[in-house]
Amino acid sequence: MGKKLLRVLAGKHEAVPPVWLMRQAGRYLPEYRAIRERAGGFLDLCLNPELAAEVTLQPVRRFGFDAAILFSDILVVPLALGRKVEFLVGEGPKLEPLADGEGLAALRDNLDERVVAPVYETVRSVKALLGSKTTLIGFCGAPWTVATYMVAGQGTSDQAPARRFAHYDADNFQRLIDRLVQASTEYLTGQFRAGAEVVQVFDTWAGVLSPDQFDRWCILPMQKIVEGVRKEVPGAKIIGFPRGATAMTLPYVEMTGVSAIGIDWTFPRMIARETLQQRVPVQGNVDPLALLAGGTALDREVDDVMKELGGGPLIFNLGHGILPETPIVNVERMLKRVRG
Ligand code: CP3
Repeated sequence: MGKKLLRVLAGKHEAVPPVWLMRQAGRYLPEYRAIRERAGGFLDLCLNPELAAEVTLQPVRRFGFDAAILFSDILVVPLALGRKVEFLVGEGPKLEPLADGEGLAALRDNLDERVVAPVYETVRSVKALLGSKTTLIGFCGAPWTVATYMVAGQGTSDQAPARRFAHYDADNFQRLIDRLVQASTEYLTGQFRAGAEVVQVFDTWAGVLSPDQFDRWCILPMQKIVEGVRKEVPGAKIIGFPRGATAMTLPYVEMTGVSAIGIDWTFPRMIARETLQQRVPVQGNVDPLALLAGGTALDREVDDVMKELGGGPLIFNLGHGILPETPIVNVERMLKRVRG
């Protein structure tokens, strides 16, 4: 039997593709909201192995997804590098902005064990509790995306603060990216050693860069991470998700050596089939708003993903994270349609 997701990552085609959803653990689930209230702050939840393992497993139990994704956040890495990170209710993340060489010099040279040890412990607990058909996915943010939050100190609409830093002071920005490459490599290797079977690298803000900048800040760092992790974990399965990368997606696949490519809902499925899927399995790409809407709008979207990409190696997913307002019945409807 084995695991469907791992078979697809080995290049096989499955008539019914494996399914999981980005941000599948979260506020759209009442059982998540209940634990979230008990945990205190969001970071307290991320760093509590017992509760984090529980929320990791909740969506798998409810929906029978083919994968569990570690419950944590991409901003655990800046925290492990010694930055202040806070999640304010209703406001998203707040970090102490890193604007210059002085901020860089203050970064720790090793990942803080008080931060990463509980994450690895969560991975171990989930692995021990997971059924024989469900794959455990670990993750981190890509250096560029993590840097955008570290520099601005928060999310912004176009990540101009990090882009400005990269243009004005490319040497120092390169040092920040290099530090994040090293940290991400160590962190993903730690997750594999604790029992993760696959990892995904989220480059949520890949789409705001020019092609030259994309090469330098997304492709090259990812190439180093893939190479560095595989040196420690031979054959490591790594899914890249460079959201909004459009025409740079194919060079990203060819140059980074990722095992599979996640595409967002704006990526033309026919082009994904004819270019990306000829090289690696494709993951995606239902519009999260179609899932929110449900009904025939959702059915059409699901059918289109299956028609265009279902004939080759496909990991069925959204094109970005599930929205907190999403009705649970819509997730059930989507799964029923995919699984027939
Ligand atoms: O997918 C999963 O179920 C695993 C958990 C997961 C979270 N964040 C939990 C979370 C994963 C994989 C992430 C990744 C992440 N975090 C990304 C990349 C993917 C993406 O969605 O673009 C980014 C950019 C972040 C940073 C982040 N974390 C932001 C901007 C926010 C605030 C916006 C929001 O959705 O609230 C978070 C908070 C966050 N991360 C929540 C969850 C469940 C909500 C916090 C809460 O429960 O109060």
